[in-house]
Amino acid sequence: MALRHPVLQIFAVVLLVLSSAFLNRGSGTSVEVQAGVCVSHDRPNPLAETFPNNATGVLNATLAIIPIPLDMARRLIPPQYGILEKAYRALLPDFPAGMYPVMLHAAHDHDIQFRAYGITLDDFSRVGFEFPFLDLLGDGHSSFRWAPVQLISATSSVALEGSRAYGTIVSPAEYEPVCDAYRALPNGATYFKATSLSSPEFIELEMLRLRRPTLNPYPLDLFKNITNQPTFANATKCDNMIRLFNTSMSTGDFAPVSVQGRVSANTFPFHGSGSRWTDVYGIQVATPFIENNYLDCQDMKGYEGTGGPGDSFIQTTNDIM
Ligand SMILES: *[C@@H]1O[C@H](CO)[C@@H](O)[C@H](O)[C@H]1NC(C)=O
Ligand SMILES: *[C@@H]1O[C@H](CO)[C@@H](O)[C@H](O)[C@H]1NC(C)=O
Ligand SMILES: *[C@@H]1O[C@H](CO)[C@@H](O)[C@H](O)[C@H]1NC(C)=O
Ligand SMILES: *[C@@H]1O[C@H](CO)[C@@H](O)[C@H](O)[C@H]1NC(C)=O
Ligand SMILES: *[C@@H]1O[C@H](CO)[C@@H](O)[C@H](O)[C@H]1NC(C)=O
Repeated sequence: MALRHPVLQIFAVVLLVLSSAFLNRGSGTSVEVQAGVCVSHDRPNPLAETFPNNATGVLNATLAIIPIPLDMARRLIPPQYGILEKAYRALLPDFPAGMYPVMLHAAHDHDIQFRAYGITLDDFSRVGFEFPFLDLLGDGHSSFRWAPVQLISATSSVALEGSRAYGTIVSPAEYEPVCDAYRALPNGATYFKATSLSSPEFIELEMLRLRRPTLNPYPLDLFKNITNQPTFANATKCDNMIRLFNTSMSTGDFAPVSVQGRVSANTFPFHGSGSRWTDVYGIQVATPFIENNYLDCQDMKGYEGTGGPGDSFIQTTNDIM
């Protein structure tokens, strides 16, 4: 079969990887891993049926903001990409002057399918610090998100290679918990940790549900906006992931939860033991997605997240803010 779509190429690799990964797995290191298959608490992908000809899946995530000085952001972000300060201030009018919002994106990728081809992908986790609101095309308007470094489950060669194909610096990592977005601690907090298997990199989160969501300085709209910005690493290609916030997976009982907690990290751009924060704010939410891989970044000019059916920033009954 001729594989015209890069996504299909990736999924073809998947099949090979899946079979070898299956053989390589021993009796499992965790009760969550049974017969080589991760048993996750995540709900199933609700989009596979509606979008059989697209790659779809679920991202169950903790999304949090780490404010850094703008001049530090300017040093970290490649100089050719402007920072669209007006764009984030439109969403965050009270954000401290002279600061820039880095987004911590810690997620479990679940039930990924390419239904029409009968292709499914093993779950995996991924985490990294991302730089939103970047003027990749120099039009002074279209926001793009730079995700230069990721820790990805070592068990998913497809995800590791799929991300590297964007020019991302990827570390194979092990995760706690193995098959979920986070686990509950006895103190009521949630826990998530990624540890690189090839370097001293790690990211660790312990988050508590905010008793009063109004204490969260970051509105849901900020996270909807950032997570729907096209992503790039070395800017050769862009990833268009359409995250839907208005399905049953992210509303009602599963509405986004505001959280506050502590984060420790040793990975780009936060290296060294000083990278510990005790008052990080964000949300936990699971969203289904449609992913269009390896697009020409130029073609995303003017993109505002309106990805056709399933417009991700449609007004919802927003019960968290
Ligand atoms: C997201 O993950 C948490 C932790 O495993 C789980 O409790 C929750 O039900 C998941 N949300 C969805 C919508 O699957
Ligand atoms: C589904 O994939 C097709 C082909 O790549 C693409 O043209 C279309 O925009 C995708 N659908 C959505 C909703 O992104
Ligand atoms: C970006 O990364 C891809 C994948 O590693 C590589 O093929 C491409 O040459 C890189 N482009 C630049 C400009 O570094
Ligand atoms: C994101 O925010 C910018 C700036 O406020 C706005 O122009 C854009 O339409 C928003 N996009 C989405 C998907 O909400
Ligand atoms: C989500 O929004 C899109 C329109 O942007 C709509 O077609 C779809 O029905 C909505 N889904 C739900 C569950 O409300």
